[in-house]
Amino acid sequence: MVKHLAIIMDGNGRWAQQRGLSRSEGHRAGAENIGKITEAAIKYGIEYLTLYAFSTENWKRPAAEVDFLMHLIPVFCKTRLKPMLQNGVRLRTIGRTDDLPFFARKALLKAIDDTKNNTKLTLNLALSYGGRAEIVDAVNRLLADPERPQKIDEAAFGRYLYAPDIPDPDLMIRTSGEMRLSNFLLWELSYSELYVSPVHWPAFDEAELKKALDSFGSRDRRFGDVTAKK
Ligand code: IPE
Ligand code: IPE
Ligand code: MG
Repeated sequence: MVKHLAIIMDGNGRWAQQRGLSRSEGHRAGAENIGKITEAAIKYGIEYLTLYAFSTENWKRPAAEVDFLMHLIPVFCKTRLKPMLQNGVRLRTIGRTDDLPFFARKALLKAIDDTKNNTKLTLNLALSYGGRAEIVDAVNRLLADPERPQKIDEAAFGRYLYAPDIPDPDLMIRTSGEMRLSNFLLWELSYSELYVSPVHWPAFDEAELKKALDSFGSRDRRFGDVTAKK
C-alpha cells in the first residue's frame, strides 16, 4: 500500500512544445492535472500526496515564466477550494514559501486554513522547495531552538524538517523521463521506491498512476534486510 506518494511533476514545457503551444499553456494544463491526480489518489487509498510544483532552482527561469507560475497559485487555490472541501482534501505546503509573492502566499494561507479540518488526503505542495534548503533550514531551526536535545539522532533531526508529521514517501514518481531527483525530498526519499514515467505531467492520467502503483506493488522492499517487509 502506498500511504504517501510524492511526484516530480515534470514535462509541462515539452508537452506544450509537442502541441505547438506556449510553455505557459503547458503549465496551465499541468496545474489542472493536479485536481485529477488528487482525486485518483484518493480512490487508491493514498493519504499523503506531495507534489513538486516549484523548486528553489526554478527561480532561475525567465521572469515572465516565474510570474506566470506564481499567478497560477491563486487560480489553483480558488478553483480547487470547492472540490478539496467536497473530497476531504487538506492543503499544506513545504518549502521557502516566504519567498513567494504576497498574493500567492495569501491565497495559499486561506486555502490551507479553509481545508485544515479535512482528513481524507493531505495535498502537500512543494513550493520554492529544495531538498538541501530544507536540511539547512532544519539545522538553523535546531540551532535556534533553546529546547533542542543535547544529542541529535535521525528522529530528533527529522522533527526540524518542514513536515515532521508526514511519513516518508513510499513511492516517488517522476514524469517526463528524467532519471534525477532535481533536489526533491533528499532526506525523506532515502528508502522510497522510484518510478520514472515517460509521460509528460499534463498527460499523466489515472491509468498512468495505476501503472506506477502496480509496479510498486510488485517490489520487494527489504530496507537492507534479507527478507522483504510488508
Ligand atoms: C515542470 O515542467 C514544471 C516546473 C518545473 C515548474 P517544466 O517546465 O520543467 O517542463 P519541461 O521539463 O521544460 O518540459
Ligand atoms: C523539477 O523539474 C522541479 C519541478 C518539477 C518543480 P525541473 O524541470 O526544474 O528539473 P530539471 O531542471 O530537469 O532538473
Ligand atoms: Mg522540467
